[in-house]
Amino acid sequence: MHCLKKVTDDLIWVGANDRRLAMFEGVYSVPRGVSYNSYLLIDEKTVLFDTVDKAVRQRFLENLAEALGGRRLDYLVVQHVEPDHASVVCELAEKYPEMKLVGNAKTLAFVNQFNDFDFSSRFLAVTETDALETGRHKLNFVMAPMVHWPEVMVTYDSAGKILFSADAFGSFGALNGALFSDEVDFERDYMDEARRYYANIVGKYGEQAKSILEKASALDIKLICPLHGFVWRKNFKDIISKYARWSRYEPERQGVMIAYASIYGNTENAAEILASNLRGFGINTEMYDVSVTPASEIVSAAFKWSHLVFASPTYNAGIFISMEELVNDLAAHNIQNRTVAIIENGSWAAASGTLIRAKLEKCKNMNIIGDALNIKSGVKAKQLSDIAALAEAIAGTFPKPKAGRAVPGAGGEIDAETMHRLSYGLFVLSARADGLDNGCIINTAAQITSSPLCVSISVSKANHTHDMLQKSGEFNLSVLTEGTPFEAIKRFGFQSGRDADKFAGCGDARTANGIRYLPDCSNSVISAKVTGSYDCGTHTVFFAEVTQAFAVSDEPSVTYRYYFDHIKPDPAPKTDKKSGYVCKICGYVREGEELPDDFICPICKHGAGDFAKL
Ligand code: FEO
Repeated sequence: MHCLKKVTDDLIWVGANDRRLAMFEGVYSVPRGVSYNSYLLIDEKTVLFDTVDKAVRQRFLENLAEALGGRRLDYLVVQHVEPDHASVVCELAEKYPEMKLVGNAKTLAFVNQFNDFDFSSRFLAVTETDALETGRHKLNFVMAPMVHWPEVMVTYDSAGKILFSADAFGSFGALNGALFSDEVDFERDYMDEARRYYANIVGKYGEQAKSILEKASALDIKLICPLHGFVWRKNFKDIISKYARWSRYEPERQGVMIAYASIYGNTENAAEILASNLRGFGINTEMYDVSVTPASEIVSAAFKWSHLVFASPTYNAGIFISMEELVNDLAAHNIQNRTVAIIENGSWAAASGTLIRAKLEKCKNMNIIGDALNIKSGVKAKQLSDIAALAEAIAGTFPKPKAGRAVPGAGGEIDAETMHRLSYGLFVLSARADGLDNGCIINTAAQITSSPLCVSISVSKANHTHDMLQKSGEFNLSVLTEGTPFEAIKRFGFQSGRDADKFAGCGDARTANGIRYLPDCSNSVISAKVTGSYDCGTHTVFFAEVTQAFAVSDEPSVTYRYYFDHIKPDPAPKTDKKSGYVCKICGYVREGEELPDDFICPICKHGAGDFAKL
């Protein structure tokens, strides 16, 4: 029986999950299963994005037939020919004789290599300059070679603002009834599987992954639909920032991954003593027995941690088998930018340390600490100091921790950073004056009394809403939620109401005072009448009595910190070497060596304290 999931009003997930697969690609264990995602767009034309692995073809065919509801299938966009996504292509071609195959030049070559079916008369070749119009939707294609095969392309639907991202942004793990990443605790339950998927499937091709991230950063995206794992409709930054880091081979965490092989427990003993010493320095450690833990998990861990230790016996005059496989695997996946230490064991003719070193020296930017620490069969008491010295040497390469608890000086100095420790929210402050509506983003609003029920807000004088509020004496506060898209922040925060109608296209929701509010991104709305104000120089603090207040949704309120961690995109990578200061709030760059203390960001109106030197 079919099992569909609605993605949007005209996009349906028709994929399937596989929890019986022992080894993905014959190499990677998938104990939590894997999903093969396929999406059907229902427009004037029907468009299917990729198919599935043959293991789940029956469910997929049922899903597709149900989603089509008797309509014909017009197009199959093949973004990736690897058989986990394209093994049903020929069967579909027979079942839906009017179906055209859409792909690039390499797509057809690969489809022909895997199949005996003449697609030549049914193939629609596309390039990055082509668009496929299907009615309401318009599809553009972006080539993404080596993410993860040479023929890979991704598709952007400008009407729905949907990125069909092929293998990119995918994850191991079956969907378990959910479809969207925000339906689960992704960070806690799935990020490790997303990293393991990235490191092992795409990890070798960091440059290509970076390139697709740069292309994607230019697009207005509301949904990311990958071929494995969850669909992203919120908190894109959670996965995009990880991809950006992984593609640059930057560690996510400071700490030491210790991978050891041990035949009779003696090398393990040395590794344990080292880990214990490292903990003494307050350093995080994670240990893996390479004979027990699947290599894909250790490769993933190596992408996560800043420091790697390899401890191996010498075996047949070489590296112990499973350790040699691991080190080869890491080199094949292009591991780089890590600090490394090596422990070798050899009852006679120890060689594993030198051989491991030789392999890792070929990787880029590896800082290998000293010579391998040598164990002869087992750790002896006199070697405990050698292991302690190695731990100290490793610890010496960690960034120095900030000095302990600061003691306030006598001078009354002010660390502006401490202001960022205060908790703030994000709100759309809206007002109406002279028949015009306007709104801006503020981060400072608080209840100050309960009887009467009063609030205070702080508003920059540079905002047009400030002047309107002074004139009308009334306002609304829309309390923004964690699901607020960055586009909404930009709309109300990064442009002036003097130049743009910020509420254009936002409906016409108004409270009893006739002022507009933002129902889509807020969880509650507060209307208030100004009772007083205080001039604070750059800002005015208004005091106001609440006249109406109601809830819109149960979504959590966004905090300023959450905005930075999950909503605000990272600044685009700089390709030139301009000197200047970047606004941490909106990304505006002021070029030049100096930033006056009273400088105000012309985009978001934040002060010099919110700028960082480039
Ligand atoms: Fe999920 Fe590269 O295939």
